Amino acid sequence: MYSCVCPNQSDCLLFLQQLTGTLAIAVFTATLGSLQYGYSLGVINAPQKIVERHYGRFLGVWSEEASVRSENSTEEEEIPEAGKHPVVIMYWSLSVAIFSIGGMLSSFLVGFMGDLRGRVKGMLMINILAIVAGLLMGLCKMWKPHIMVISGRAVMGFYCGLTSGLVPMYIGEIAPKAYRGALGALHQLAIVTGILISQVIGLDFILGNDDMWPLLFGLSGAPAVLQSLLLPLCPESPRYLYILLGKEQEARTSKRYTQKLNVIHILSLVIRSSVYRQRLLVALVMHLSQQFSGINAIFYYSTAIFTRAGVSQPVYATIGVGVINTVFTLVAVALVDKAGRRTLTLAGLGGMCCCAIAMTVGLKFQNEYSWMSYVSMSAIFLFVSFFEIGPGPIPWFIVAELFSQGPRSAAIALAGCCNWTSNFIIGMTFPYIEVLLDCYVFILFAVLLLCFTVFTYLRVPETKGKTFEEIAAVFQKGQKKRQRDNAELQQLKTSTDA
Ligand code: GLC
Repeated sequence: MYSCVCPNQSDCLLFLQQLTGTLAIAVFTATLGSLQYGYSLGVINAPQKIVERHYGRFLGVWSEEASVRSENSTEEEEIPEAGKHPVVIMYWSLSVAIFSIGGMLSSFLVGFMGDLRGRVKGMLMINILAIVAGLLMGLCKMWKPHIMVISGRAVMGFYCGLTSGLVPMYIGEIAPKAYRGALGALHQLAIVTGILISQVIGLDFILGNDDMWPLLFGLSGAPAVLQSLLLPLCPESPRYLYILLGKEQEARTSKRYTQKLNVIHILSLVIRSSVYRQRLLVALVMHLSQQFSGINAIFYYSTAIFTRAGVSQPVYATIGVGVINTVFTLVAVALVDKAGRRTLTLAGLGGMCCCAIAMTVGLKFQNEYSWMSYVSMSAIFLFVSFFEIGPGPIPWFIVAELFSQGPRSAAIALAGCCNWTSNFIIGMTFPYIEVLLDCYVFILFAVLLLCFTVFTYLRVPETKGKTFEEIAAVFQKGQKKRQRDNAELQQLKTSTDA
């Protein structure tokens, strides 16, 4: 295990910059956690019918014979689908939703976990959760499958809530300034790769069939095993070692500074500390814009959306979305340190807004003009591409950039919790909103996207190529200016009153 000996932070980062091999291993190892998160997000889609049937058979509310009899029947009788039975619907919905609930709860503990023993040991400890979750799901046929899967998904969600905060925090802290964006975006690249892998191996002729689906679910714990083997080779975040553990010379001697670090905890961050309020607002709105852009409405319901838009092989179109998603995240990795976070977020949100309008036009006129299905299809692909060049990857790592060492883990926890909660809200409400707004459903996202674009234009600063200290200074300058303006305003008011 490497422990740093540099006298100050910038030397330490230079030291790491030279350690490119170690840096590569560290980033690869950390993003195995993100891969697992993406896999767990995507794995539930393809085998839905197979698992519902298994639940139905096990619970005694559905049988193959009844279904076949009904299919062969000449009468216009409805085919009993396992997924239509209320008990199966309940257990299946729980299997899906419990993942986000686990994530919502644990994302709040990211700060605690990251600061307890450090980022590396934190990632190592939580792997126990991923392995337990994988075993529960992989061995689900040995006991009550619905209970095993629901417990496994809950534990996996809990794990993913932690990993979705710890990975960007660790990468942000070990990355050299010039590559912080690209390395930070690798978190999202691993997520989308995980989603794509799960979509492909979830096809019915691979693992998405009646015999193999428990293995498909169980495999979500596999990256944790590899990560546990590699983590002991990874250096601890130098910023954690130096500042939080007080190993840095300045941190050791400056009592006031270390005290300040200890005092800043989540609540005071939100309620009392006006120094951080502006940054927190930017961080939370960026996470809200990632989720309320409607991206997961596409991911969770793409098959249904493609069917509606008249596509004949919706499963393959969904995999197409996964491929586009991965390709454009690669584009973001290449561009983010050159074009900058602010520019890419603005371009992404603005582009998504136009695509949401195009999707609405496509859905509205698809019955009148057959070529409108191409408009909808292209709009969906472009929507995903615009998401991945900015609004997808950037919120995950920009929080680590916006906050200095003391409040960083607390801010990541709050932003993560906001992300998971809004993801859950979209997942639960989208089917109802769709019924309510029908073909105008994407107009809602277009309006939200427009608001987020304006917010980004007005409030999000560029963090590209700046040290954490320089970024903090941007906000402090803004705050000082606001304080000056307020004081002048107050003075003016008093003199006018007089
Ligand atoms: C981001 C989002 C996640 C979404 C994914 C799609 O990581 O946080 O909710 O499913 O992007 O690529």
